[in-house]
Amino acid sequence: MKLATVVCLLSACSASGWAQFQSVVDSPHNLSTSGPGVIRATTEEQVCIFCHATHNSSPVRPLWNRAMPVDAYSVYTSRALDAQPGQPTGSSKMCLSCHDGTIALGAVVSRTVPISMMGGVTTMPPGPGLIGTDLRDDHPISFRYDSALATQDSKLRLPSQLPPELHLDANSELQCTTCHDAHNNARGNFLVMNNTNSQMCTSCHQMGTTAVSAHEDCASCHQPHSAPSGPYLLRAATVAQTCLACHDGSVPGAPDIESSLSSAYIHETYSQVDPDEPYQAHVSCADCHEPHTIGSGSSSAPLIHPSFGEVPGVSASGALLNAASYEYEVCFRCHAEGATVEPHLPRRIVQNNTRQEFSTSAISFHPVEGPGRNADVPSLLPGWTTSSVMYCTDCHSSDMGQQAGGNGPDGLHGSNQDPLLIARYSTADFTRESASAYELCYSCHSRQSILNDESFEEHEKHIVDERAPCSACHDAHGISSLQGSSTGNSHLINFRTDIVFPDRRTGRLEFRDTGFRRGECFLRCHGEDHSPEDYHP
Ligand code: HEC
Ligand code: HEC
Ligand code: HEC
Ligand code: HEC
Ligand code: HEC
Ligand code: HEC
Ligand code: HEC
Ligand code: HEC
Ligand code: HEC
Ligand code: HEC
Ligand code: HEC
Repeated sequence: MKLATVVCLLSACSASGWAQFQSVVDSPHNLSTSGPGVIRATTEEQVCIFCHATHNSSPVRPLWNRAMPVDAYSVYTSRALDAQPGQPTGSSKMCLSCHDGTIALGAVVSRTVPISMMGGVTTMPPGPGLIGTDLRDDHPISFRYDSALATQDSKLRLPSQLPPELHLDANSELQCTTCHDAHNNARGNFLVMNNTNSQMCTSCHQMGTTAVSAHEDCASCHQPHSAPSGPYLLRAATVAQTCLACHDGSVPGAPDIESSLSSAYIHETYSQVDPDEPYQAHVSCADCHEPHTIGSGSSSAPLIHPSFGEVPGVSASGALLNAASYEYEVCFRCHAEGATVEPHLPRRIVQNNTRQEFSTSAISFHPVEGPGRNADVPSLLPGWTTSSVMYCTDCHSSDMGQQAGGNGPDGLHGSNQDPLLIARYSTADFTRESASAYELCYSCHSRQSILNDESFEEHEKHIVDERAPCSACHDAHGISSLQGSSTGNSHLINFRTDIVFPDRRTGRLEFRDTGFRRGECFLRCHGEDHSPEDYHP
């Protein structure tokens, strides 16, 4: 629009041009006595004057009638942000001249005395209109949204693809006025385009697709201003609280995850986690479920669950992945290199990198990455064979979920069995053997077969008579080839050093695999020396 036209409009000389701005009159931006809102002037009748004047206007912008705020803002930031918002610039400063709450609404350049407002209002009163000077909880503004940025962040559309309603300012800068038009309140909130079904958000952001219809609306989890989380603009202070607003049993159809979090053990300190903390120190919902791409339906091991979406991971060979393909890759992001969780039980061979324990080159291992080493596992119950592959979550999951025979939600959220086990696994020495004491193992391995000594001919003697827990001899994960040996650590043998000690005669603490269902042990256990003891069919 030509400057002349603007001047003309402001002095109301063209009826047709005026019509375009007529809607200000019925909006909260009409701060004159005729305004519809609570915030209006005591006697001032001009509508445009609060923002524009033909004379004496601010040098910042032709016809602008307000003093501009100083650069004293805290700007939006997050680890994921590629853009570099600086202090507000351009038209954003115009909006902030009222909305940051530092300048009186009636303080206009064209008057020496501020226009007086009803109820003694001076600056923007507390309420939704008060954006404040802390912009860390508001959608980022005043940065270049250009094709370079869209190339850097593939979840952004190219600015050239934006619908015509979304204007960028000079220098391709995104401003308040990209989303808002101070003159047009037809859609509410002065939005430049309709945002039902989030179509304004998705005009710029392409976050991927989700199969969960309740997740389609960005506003289910985000709010563009005064967001309690700060980074990521979430509706609650943390990721978990954002999700649990629905997943707490209050929304029909949304699985009640909060109930799992009252279990004795949970997979994080949910309530305290800052959404912008580095991931290895904690785990939150979004570390397993990428919120924008959550699918539905089931999958079989080792494939990733559709409910995980396109979540990052670490591959079996240790490479960082933007989107994991297998469940274990998601776990390896935190339980491989850089793992913070120490092994629960003291063992001959200590390893807290689960990627090494489950490697298909490990000495022996439960089959998570690929089928296991042993073709002779007679105890396997129907449904499991020596070519089976399993999930970490076949052992670590809710003990009250459907998978565990309960009716709560499945998933690695919480359990009363330490460490987050799906069923009981007693590790105490002198445990009285029962179906429930080793329920975890007996869910795949037949109790009858084990106690009938079908493989190790001394199983029953040790487990029932001596009351040695399975964990005295077996490692539940695997023994890395970097540490173990094929004669000493086959069959998941990795003795616990708090139950099994060196033999007093030989000084050795050792298992030796001597062939099919044969072996010998040098050790002392429950006061008894094996120097050595052997077994064979
Ligand atoms: C609450 C503040 C506010 C009020 C009241 C207001 N305007 Fe504006 N106006 C603005 C802002 C901010 C801009 C700059 C928009 C931009 O840079 O994208 C603007 C720009 C304009 C422009 C330049 C063209 C354009 O759309 O960018 C015209 C013309 C205009 N206003 C006319 C009016 C008229 C006429 C009135 C009174 C009916 C009015 N305005 C009331 C805030 C206001
Ligand atoms: C002259 C002061 C002033 C300026 C300049 C101003 N606003 Fe406002 N704005 C207000 C007031 C006052 C309200 C009403 C607040 C309330 O009712 O609590 C308001 C309300 C709003 C609302 C909420 C509307 C609704 O339906 O509740 C939005 C959105 C908004 N302004 C955006 C902007 C944007 C974007 C700009 C800059 C382009 C801007 N404002 C410039 C004073 C101003
Ligand atoms: C990326 C788009 C976008 C940008 C940029 C943006 N807003 Fe908003 N704003 C929105 C949306 C969407 C809403 C409506 C929120 C809702 O419906 O709850 C909104 C609402 C508002 C409201 C009403 C109060 C509220 O919290 O809902 C005010 C006031 C407001 N914006 C002012 C501003 C100001 C001032 C700026 C610049 C500092 C700005 N907006 C930048 C999208 C944006
Ligand atoms: C005009 C384009 C545009 C619109 C409309 C828009 N955004 Fe953005 N938004 C951006 C750009 C560009 C960034 C900066 C992204 C980056 O640098 O990673 C951004 C950043 C964000 C961020 C912070 C990302 C981070 O990495 O910290 C969130 C959250 C966000 N937008 C959500 C929304 C939501 C929700 C809506 C709808 C209310 C919306 N946006 C509307 C362009 C837009
Ligand atoms: C089910 C909840 C949920 C919904 C729905 C949702 N988000 Fe998010 N979004 C999140 C969470 C949680 C994060 C923070 C992720 C993290 O901590 O890693 C996030 C992060 C983001 C980010 C910054 C990180 C990134 O990957 O770039 C942007 C941008 C974003 N969301 C935009 C959107 C937009 C646009 C929509 C609507 C199309 C939307 N979100 C819908 C929960 C949601
Ligand atoms: C606005 C309410 C709401 C919010 C907020 C919400 N969800 Fe949901 N979510 C639902 C509903 C409803 C369903 C069930 C939909 C169905 O089964 O079709 C669901 C389903 C799911 C599912 C199961 C998908 C499947 O079918 O296997 C997962 C996983 C999930 N949500 C995770 C999350 C995460 C993570 C967050 C936070 C980032 C979140 N949800 C936030 C309402 C919500
Ligand atoms: C984002 C990082 C992260 C991801 C991804 C992750 N974890 Fe964890 N996990 C942790 C942290 C941190 C702890 C320690 C929590 C605590 O101290 O309470 C933990 C604890 C555990 C524990 C309990 C250990 C104990 O000492 O009580 C198990 C079991 C576990 N995780 C298994 C898994 C499995 C299986 C997966 C993949 C499905 C997985 N984790 C994915 C970070 C993660
Ligand atoms: C066959 C069942 C089973 C499978 C499969 C399994 N775990 Fe475990 N996990 C256990 C048991 C039992 C413990 C308790 C410690 C022990 O017995 O050595 C444990 C302990 C842990 C711990 C605690 C630290 C430690 O080493 O003691 C973490 C973390 C863990 N597992 C992560 C994982 C991850 C990640 C996967 C998949 C890559 C996985 N687990 C697969 C049974 C299993
Ligand atoms: C360590 C990984 C992990 C974390 C962290 C995690 N989940 Fe899950 N979640 C799972 C697994 C595994 C499943 C079961 C797989 C499936 O059913 O798709 C699951 C399933 C779900 C389901 C579907 C349950 C059902 O019975 O259909 C919902 C909903 C869900 N999670 C929400 C959440 C919410 C909310 C959070 C944060 C409070 C969260 N999850 C944190 C791993 C995780
Ligand atoms: C005293 C040490 C010891 C204890 C305690 C022990 N095992 Fe074993 N187990 C072995 C040895 C040694 C083998 C290897 C036998 C061979 O040479 O094939 C074995 C083999 C196995 C096998 C593979 C072959 C098969 O039978 O399918 C399974 C499964 C097994 N044990 C499960 C268990 C369970 C479950 C427990 C606890 C209820 C347990 N073990 C307790 C030493 C032990
Ligand atoms: C989800 C099913 C499942 C659970 C639970 C499970 N196992 Fe296994 N286990 C298997 C499968 C499948 C194999 C076969 C792997 C192979 O062929 O090497 C196996 C093999 C074994 C072997 C033989 C490994 C070898 O290389 O000789 C031992 C020992 C064993 N399991 C012990 C246990 C113990 C102890 C527990 C309880 C902590 C347990 N398992 C829990 C499925 C399971």
